[in-house]
Amino acid sequence: MSRSGIFRPENLGQNALAMIRNLCFSLCVIGVLIFIIMAATYKPDDPMFHSDSTFKSDKSVFKTGEDLLASNKTAFEEAENRGCNGKVDDPIDCGDPEVFHLLMRAAIDKFKDIDFYRFGRAVRGINNTSCHMAWRFRPKGNTAAFDKDYRNFVLVSDNCTVSVVGIGDYHSGVNAMKRKRKGKDAKTEEFEKLRSEMIEETTNDSLSGVELDGSFSRGKYLVYSGGGDRCKSMQHFLYSFNCMLGEAQYLNRTLVLDLSICLPSIYTSSGQDEDGKDFRFYFDIEHLKDTASLMDQGQFWSEWNKRREKDELTLHLVEDYRTTPMKLARVEDALIMRKFGTVEPDNYWYRVCEGETDKVISRPWHMVWKSRSLLDMASAIAMRMDWDFDTIHIERGEKAMNKEQWPNLDRDTSPEALLATLQGKMEAGRNLYILTNEHNTSFFDPLKAKYSTHFLDEFKDLWDEDSDWYAEMKKLNNGKPVELDGYMRMSIEDEVSLKAKKKFETFNDLTKDCKDGINTCRSAS
Ligand SMILES: *[C@@H]1O[C@H](CO)[C@@H](O)[C@H](O)[C@H]1NC(C)=O
Ligand SMILES: *[C@@H]1O[C@H](CO)[C@@H](O)[C@H](O)[C@H]1NC(C)=O
Ligand SMILES: *[C@@H]1O[C@H](CO)[C@@H](O)[C@H](O)[C@H]1NC(C)=O
Ligand SMILES: *[C@@H]1O[C@H](CO)[C@@H](O)[C@H](O)[C@H]1NC(C)=O
Ligand SMILES: *[C@@H]1O[C@H](CO)[C@@H](O)[C@H](O)[C@H]1NC(C)=O
Ligand SMILES: *[C@@H]1O[C@H](CO)[C@@H](O)[C@H](O)[C@H]1NC(C)=O
Ligand SMILES: *[C@@H]1O[C@H](CO)[C@@H](O)[C@H](O)[C@H]1NC(C)=O
Repeated sequence: MSRSGIFRPENLGQNALAMIRNLCFSLCVIGVLIFIIMAATYKPDDPMFHSDSTFKSDKSVFKTGEDLLASNKTAFEEAENRGCNGKVDDPIDCGDPEVFHLLMRAAIDKFKDIDFYRFGRAVRGINNTSCHMAWRFRPKGNTAAFDKDYRNFVLVSDNCTVSVVGIGDYHSGVNAMKRKRKGKDAKTEEFEKLRSEMIEETTNDSLSGVELDGSFSRGKYLVYSGGGDRCKSMQHFLYSFNCMLGEAQYLNRTLVLDLSICLPSIYTSSGQDEDGKDFRFYFDIEHLKDTASLMDQGQFWSEWNKRREKDELTLHLVEDYRTTPMKLARVEDALIMRKFGTVEPDNYWYRVCEGETDKVISRPWHMVWKSRSLLDMASAIAMRMDWDFDTIHIERGEKAMNKEQWPNLDRDTSPEALLATLQGKMEAGRNLYILTNEHNTSFFDPLKAKYSTHFLDEFKDLWDEDSDWYAEMKKLNNGKPVELDGYMRMSIEDEVSLKAKKKFETFNDLTKDCKDGINTCRSAS
């Protein structure tokens, strides 16, 4: 099976990969057609074949610490108990996401009079059973001031349960504090730190985490190459990405990752697919790096070419997705490369995880978080509404015009109907954040008589040329400005609705019409 020697990776450097990608790109036109036909025949429960609209908000795709804390206590408790071998004196791994969640929960439980804005990563504290973690917060009721704290957490690991037994004083967690620059007075330094922190934290996160002192050649790697996944929907991308990540985890191999992704046309202002977007615009690479072993593709191939001959590194090429990860478990070669062909849909990455593999590989959705820059914008928006608001999803657009499939939608989402529906469910005077695909927002003006309405574009200053986000993205993008695209907008709004007190959805809450057209509602039984 192994084709070591025949296949020459130096021929498959960046150029060849780019070629494969271009080839895929030209095939995309055909691919999209096939995909549409396929999608029509798939069962609607399949998570990736939900229609990819502005309203898509599959919560399972994203989890932030806050969501996790709010929504699933039992999952934590299970998580806390997992992987324990019962020894009381084992050092606590502060970098473990489960420990991170535990610390967040402890902090939220303890400091009830502040609003948390963001938690930094937890790091090792003063000894084996102590962690330090930083956060930004503002006192409840104070809309302007931000402050930062970092504290020491004392933990015990007892009978397979890790718990927090003590939290230190204000600023006791010095290891979680950013290293100070020299030669500036403390006030200036603190100020500059707060301002630049966001930028630094998200931009210094290339995948250069692997030491290059010979450990490269001892590593085991997995890379996916080619395939028809590019420029499909973002759900498709994530579905495939999670399969690949799941396989790498299963095989205990470092995943060699291409950070450039393609944004499908429904999210772009040009109306064209836009290739070459950066993964880090959308997703939290820091968190992913903390939970999985990753290496950037460019760096990987450069190391590989340098060391392959000297260290006799070998390659195992797999060209059939039906070769299961289980069959690859005993492969000793340094690199397993899965190469995908040009015939869709047989060349989708996620197909690796189908069939018997589905029961063996878990797709690690919990590792893929929204990027911090997007979460920060959502927090800023929530903050401007005093963390006290309700959201309403109002889906109109083409569905509202199609009376055959959605006979009542247009009427049920008119401002008059909305006011009637919200009567008694939402107090007058509240902040109401409206998520909608209705481009003319004055359409909703009648709601202003009773509620304080908000739309995303009201918060434009968060991404304009003077914003932190703008500077941060520009830095990530080699100095070129980045526009806030449709997928980012959706991610932000999705996150804003997670912070709402009450949520109203178009289907179910506002209309009895079915989401996917007439007679498609799932039966209530
Ligand atoms: C909580 O987590 C468990 C285990 O991961 C899962 O089975 C359950 O569906 C989750 N519940 C909610 C409400 O998300
Ligand atoms: C670690 O430090 C904490 C706080 O000073 C202390 O309570 C704990 O006993 C120490 N643990 C060990 C194993 O030294
Ligand atoms: C911390 O844990 C390591 C590994 O178990 C152990 O070798 C070391 O002695 C511990 N240090 C302290 C101060 O307990
Ligand atoms: C440890 O946990 C198990 C299961 O929860 C319980 O039966 C046992 O009594 C516990 N032991 C101690 C020493 O707490
Ligand atoms: C970025 O991170 C690396 C590795 O963690 C570190 O060595 C480097 O100093 C950081 N660069 C900046 C500008 O902070
Ligand atoms: C991966 O590592 C885990 C833990 O070390 C081990 O149990 C498992 O068998 C390994 N899997 C493979 C495919 O080598
Ligand atoms: C927007 O909606 C309002 C109220 O329905 C209407 O008066 C106005 O003409 C619309 N504007 C555009 C540009 O369609």
